[in-house]
Amino acid sequence: MNTGLFITFEGIDGAGKSTQLDYAVNYLRSQKKEVVQTREPGGTIFSEKLRSMILEAKTPLDSDTEVLLMFAARKEHITRVIQPALNSGSIVVCDRFTDATFAYQGGGSRVPPSRIETLEAWVQGNFQPHLTLFFDLPIEIAQRRMGQRKKDRFESEAMDFHERVRHAYLDRAHKHPDRIKVIDSSRTKSQIREMVQVELDRICN
Ligand code: TMP
Repeated sequence: MNTGLFITFEGIDGAGKSTQLDYAVNYLRSQKKEVVQTREPGGTIFSEKLRSMILEAKTPLDSDTEVLLMFAARKEHITRVIQPALNSGSIVVCDRFTDATFAYQGGGSRVPPSRIETLEAWVQGNFQPHLTLFFDLPIEIAQRRMGQRKKDRFESEAMDFHERVRHAYLDRAHKHPDRIKVIDSSRTKSQIREMVQVELDRICN
């Protein structure tokens, strides 16, 4: 049984994804929808531990290791949180999912997409989000917006890494136009909210 809706939020670091995600969750709850808010890597006690290990690693991690850890965390998350919530009819709103692995490890760290696809098929079968909102912004603007805030391991990568991440996301949006909607994050906050609301209304009603 799979009666709920699975909505994922993706974005360039600094594109305002998390602010919009909080807005979306409040908006859906105001409509009396049952919403489970979660994130990747993370979402279970074990997967949150993996998150800290990956994002706070002081020494470089092999990129294949990173992919394997992301999917280990994901498998736990799907099995223990996402699937049960969907089975009970909830809307699951998740801050990042597998598109992030294609973008960061595939695009950014140049892991061949075929390896990621192999793990995606193993861990997810045909399971995919019903809707993905991708918050897009030119990298220079995103970096300026992030300013001096404390950065995790990926956020601290060089500009060309982030350019590759952005292009990998845009490439995925191009390949999956029905599922992935690109939101232009150079617009004002209220314009972005409006675009988010339109997409939520479309998928939920
Ligand atoms: P967040 O800062 O948006 O919560 O995301 C955490 C970081 O993890 C972000 O820099 C992107 C990265 N990430 C990957 O590299 N691969 C993945 O599969 C996921 C889910 C996140």
